[in-house]
Amino acid sequence: MTPHNEAKIGDYAEAVLLPGDPLRAKWIAETFFEDPRQVNGIRNCLGFTGRYKGKPVSVQATGMGQPSLSIYVHELIDIYGAKVLVRVGTCGGISDKVRLKDIVLAEAATTDSAMDSETFGAFRFAPSANFGLLRDAANRADAAGLSWRAGGIVSTDTFYLPENAYDPLTAHGILAIDMETAALYTLAARFGVRALTLCAVSDDLLTGEKMAPSDRQSSLTELATLALDVAVGA
Ligand code: HPA
Repeated sequence: MTPHNEAKIGDYAEAVLLPGDPLRAKWIAETFFEDPRQVNGIRNCLGFTGRYKGKPVSVQATGMGQPSLSIYVHELIDIYGAKVLVRVGTCGGISDKVRLKDIVLAEAATTDSAMDSETFGAFRFAPSANFGLLRDAANRADAAGLSWRAGGIVSTDTFYLPENAYDPLTAHGILAIDMETAALYTLAARFGVRALTLCAVSDDLLTGEKMAPSDRQSSLTELATLALDVAVGA
């Protein structure tokens, strides 16, 4: 038990899906898990454990942003023994290489966060995905005929940045924005576990388009299925 998590040791599986939104965590557990049980409810940041295709799996909401995610992920790894962490989220497209509803496989995450500004001395760490998970996700996304692209994303601490703030990143091939992945990949590296972010493009900052509400559910189903297969290796 921690101030943020009432689960007991052993309550989480080694494979954990990480949506930002607690209700999405509940939906994933209720829709895809066999025998789901709630293991965390503190602050309504819901966590569940069950089985998927017969294998143990958990889902834990992270809240929004890198400080929030870091609390849950640090504890999942350090206290509860998580080994494979797959973020399922949304992202904002900042490249003409991605379209609404595409699934972005985040190879690496640039950030404007100061969370680790003192950690690496003179160096700037490059938070990157686990290659095995990334390759597996790409193979499975191809086999399922999904529209996907792998590449760099940026994890920002500031949702409302001035227009054009991302132009230098777009010019360097960055595909999309989220607010969590750099911290997830940094923690995974620190603890020697595997992590991957899969996120659906929910809005396009270049065109101003947003995913239609009717597309959100089908997009989430595709995303959650891919993430579960990758997380448990089913
Ligand atoms: N900014 C940051 N995170 C996001 C966005 C965005 O525009 N869209 C979805 N997640």
